[in-house]
Amino acid sequence: MSDHQLFGRAEEFTALDALVDGLAEAGGALVVRGAPGIGKSALLARAARQAERSGFTVLTASGVEAESHLPFAGLHQLTRTMLDQVPGLPPVQAEALLGAFGMAQPSPTGRAPQLFMIALATLDLLGEAAGQAPVLLVVDDAHWLDSPTLDVLAFIARRLGPEPLGMLFGIRDGHTTCLDTLALRELRLHPSPRPMPGPSWMTWSRSWNRRSGTGCSTRPRATPWPSSNCLPRCVSREHRPRP
Ligand SMILES: Nc1ncnc2c1ncn2[C@@H]1O[C@H](COP(=O)(O)OP(=O)(O)OP(=O)(O)O)[C@@H](O)[C@H]1O
Ligand SMILES: [Mg+2]
Repeated sequence: MSDHQLFGRAEEFTALDALVDGLAEAGGALVVRGAPGIGKSALLARAARQAERSGFTVLTASGVEAESHLPFAGLHQLTRTMLDQVPGLPPVQAEALLGAFGMAQPSPTGRAPQLFMIALATLDLLGEAAGQAPVLLVVDDAHWLDSPTLDVLAFIARRLGPEPLGMLFGIRDGHTTCLDTLALRELRLHPSPRPMPGPSWMTWSRSWNRRSGTGCSTRPRATPWPSSNCLPRCVSREHRPRP
């Protein structure tokens, strides 16, 4: 989707641009939270595109419910393009990270790689990358990431410092993760207040209504324009559904 097709999100664009622009000064993190279908992924994708255009290294991962029980599946998604840098890490960290991905011989002591070493290895990898160009991690549907990956991301978020390293998470309403304990800045999405009426908006509106299960519908209803705030106020009369 190109940027001009995202309607009524000027404030959200500003918040996301501020995160990306602010990385020139220091690391930062932001959680985009909202109901199913409200536009979290669309905003994250836009931010990723903007960052890429500005020369950032953008690393992406998306939580998948079916993989949420697979340890480090999310971390593997996120770091897959950087694995050629792993040999530059201290050997114990490199071994731990590759061990987590099944890419190293099991330790002769038979011990599983320590989460702490894996987190350190990831932090070092990202720090190295951020020394070359600003880095933005874009993690969509973070609530469905496997729990060791979330632990590693929380570890990194707690250590954001002056390096240009940004973290952007998309999380659905009603889900909790260990990231909640960090009290990261949040951008809460509400139904877009100022859409441009037209076919594209109607498609989005239908998709959001379907996914969110709010009961709001663009189909004719007994009460054609629900009084709840799930439909925007500023759509002109001729575009409103008729009974
Ligand atoms: N502001 C917008 N203007 C126009 N279309 C939009 C807007 N926001 C989202 N859409 C479209 O609405 C649909 C749902 O958006 P999106 O997938 O980003 O929702 P989501 O919040 O990530 O949902 P989920 O919780 O299911 O992952 C997509 O087709 C997207 O392109
Ligand atoms: Mg999404």
